[in-house]
Amino acid sequence: MHIKKIRLINFRNYENEEINLDEKINIIYGDNGEGKTNILESIFISAIGRSFRTNKEKELINLEKNNCKIEIEYEKNNLNKNIQINIEKNNFNELKKEIYLNKIKIKKTSELLGNICTVIFNPNDMDILKNGPVKRRKFLDIMISQLRPNYIYLLNNYKKYLDQRNIYLRQIKYENKSKELLDIWDEKIAEIGYQIYLYRKEFIEKIKLKINNIHSKITTEKEKINIKYISNVEDKNKYLINLKNQREIDIKKGYTVEGVHRDDFVISINNKQVSVYGSQGQQRTVIISLKLSELEVIYDEINDYPILLLDDFTSELDEKRIVNLLENIQKNQVIITSTNRNTINKANKYLKVENGKVL
Ligand SMILES: Nc1ncnc2c1ncn2[C@@H]1O[C@H](COP(=O)(O)OP(=O)(O)O)[C@@H](O)[C@H]1O
Ligand SMILES: [Mg+2]
Repeated sequence: MHIKKIRLINFRNYENEEINLDEKINIIYGDNGEGKTNILESIFISAIGRSFRTNKEKELINLEKNNCKIEIEYEKNNLNKNIQINIEKNNFNELKKEIYLNKIKIKKTSELLGNICTVIFNPNDMDILKNGPVKRRKFLDIMISQLRPNYIYLLNNYKKYLDQRNIYLRQIKYENKSKELLDIWDEKIAEIGYQIYLYRKEFIEKIKLKINNIHSKITTEKEKINIKYISNVEDKNKYLINLKNQREIDIKKGYTVEGVHRDDFVISINNKQVSVYGSQGQQRTVIISLKLSELEVIYDEINDYPILLLDDFTSELDEKRIVNLLENIQKNQVIITSTNRNTINKANKYLKVENGKVL
């Protein structure tokens, strides 16, 4: 699949721009703050339905306007398709979002998923290894949502019931409400959480099957990588029993302590946890291996090459890694942003961005 054309109207610092892309390697270059990442963001939103850098969709609309549009024309399985997203804010600052898939309005954002598939590299990816598990779950969630639209539905429902349960826990604590009613939420959470667990387990297994080869190739067989899923969910009944056993603790704390919302995974190299013992360079290589694995997993699932978005390419990767990366991705459409035009010399198309204009 590849994107042919993007039109941005009042999106971030773009007023009305049409951007034509090559089906292979595109490099978008320009100084900081000119609007390079904004273009990748618009593509990501068309794939996932939301931004990778903000939860506040209001920020996507140009500061001086009340509505914005993203239009993407793309080719998939030799068919021309399009996606259009309109976001509008009214006088009360309420947002209305409309999504059209091939000119037909869809009802739920989840219907958008799986049309354009992307894998994104950005400078914050190192956070997947460092810091807490939030970014690691996000990595899994973005990958799985694109391949199993049902997954996003489960995640949303899980979050809904978890929020309700947490509110109720506090009502028990402060208002002396009956504990018995928790049963309803425990059932729901165990049921949905267990399905989420199964998806995550399936996809970590898939990544595992890919990452060994990829990483050993990149490191010329010096490093053996392993990835391990960590979850306190193993089967639905245990999950339910766990929730019940934890009740008193949950009530005391005012939130649900255990469940898939605490899931994590650990990556190790030669049996050492890379986030703790790995050098900066090793960690970067691991991120590349992880993303390349994601790329292959997606390919296996959809039988097509997902679009690769590389944000701020030069800042995170040294030359050897760039070569490695590009050797592995010859068939995907690649869209790179960089402050330096000469980041790579074999791009098929060079686009210069200056103050919300593509030259
Ligand atoms: N809602 C908005 N309205 C107008 N300008 C915006 C909006 N959001 C971001 N910008 C502008 O977009 C620019 C940042 O774009 P970005 O794509 O992140 O730059 P870079 O080229 O460094 O990747 C900044 O100049 C910022 O002021
Ligand atoms: Mg940028």
